[in-house]
Amino acid sequence: MSRVALVSGGTRGIGAAISTALKSEGYTVAATYAGNDDKALAFTAETGIKTFKWDVSDYDACVSGIAKVETELGQVDILVNNAGITRDAPFHKMTRDQWCDVIRTNLDGAFNMTHPLWNGMRDRKFGRVVNISSINGQKGQFAQTNYSAAKAGDIGFTKALAQEGARVGITVNAICPGYIATEMVMAVPEKIRDSIVAQIPTGRLGEASEIARCVVFLVSDDAGFITGSTLTANGGQYMA
Ligand code: CAA
Repeated sequence: MSRVALVSGGTRGIGAAISTALKSEGYTVAATYAGNDDKALAFTAETGIKTFKWDVSDYDACVSGIAKVETELGQVDILVNNAGITRDAPFHKMTRDQWCDVIRTNLDGAFNMTHPLWNGMRDRKFGRVVNISSINGQKGQFAQTNYSAAKAGDIGFTKALAQEGARVGITVNAICPGYIATEMVMAVPEKIRDSIVAQIPTGRLGEASEIARCVVFLVSDDAGFITGSTLTANGGQYMA
C-alpha cells in the first residue's frame, strides 16, 4: 500500500505542485486548504487528489481534520507544512492582527499539524516532515517582520524536532524557496517584483515544480540520512 502524504495549503501555488508531484511518485495524497472551495474543487477534478478544508492556525481543527484524513486514507507518514500567508507592511504600519495572523498560520500552523501526527510516526518508527520556510526567513525582508520571524521560526522548529525524530526513523527538514512564480509573489507590486528579479542571479523567478522536486527527494527512502537540514532553492539570491 502506498504511503499517505498530507500537504497543507496543498491546492494552490507551491503546495499544489507538491501535491501533484507526490501523487505522480505513487503516494496517496491529501491536500488541505483554508478557504477557496472553488479552487479546491477544481484541483480535485483536475488531479484526483482529495482535499480537506480546515484552518492550520486552529489546533483543534487540525486534530479533527487529521483524524478524518487518516480514517479515509490511512495513517499519515509524510507531512508537508506548506500553508502560509503574507500580510506585508512596514513595521511602523503593521497592525497586531497582521502580526498575529502570520505567526499563527505560518509558525503555529507547523506545530498544529505536526503535533497530532508525531506520536503515530514515532510508534511506526517512520516519518517525513518537510517544513516550507522561505528565503525571507533566512535573510529578512523589508515589510515582512511577521513573515520573516515566522519563517525563521520554522527553521528552528525543524532543527529541534529533527534531533528528537532522528532515533525513531523520522526526518524533519526545511526548504527555503526563493521568489517563486505563484499568486503570492505575483501580488507584490510589479515594480518591486522587477527589482527583486534583478537580484536573482539566475535572472528569473523559480517554478513551483522546482520546489516540489526538492520535497519528493526529502521524503524518499533515499533521504533517510538527511535530517535537520535547510535546503535553499532560490536561484542564488541568498546563499545561507
Ligand atoms: N527596501 C528599502 N525600502 C523599501 C523597500 C525595500 N525593499 N520596499 C519599499 N521601501 C520603501 C519605499 O520606497 C517607501 O519609501 P519612501 O517612504 O521614502 O517613499 C517606504 O519603504 C514605504 O513605502 P509605502 O509607504 O509605499 O509602504 P506601504 O505601506 O504602501 O507598503 C509594501 C508597501 C507592502 C511594503 C510593498 O512595498 C511591498 O509589497 N513590498 C514587497 C515586500 C515583499 O517582498 N514581500 C514578499 C512577498 S512574496 C513572499 O513572501 C514569498 C516568499 O517566501 C519569498
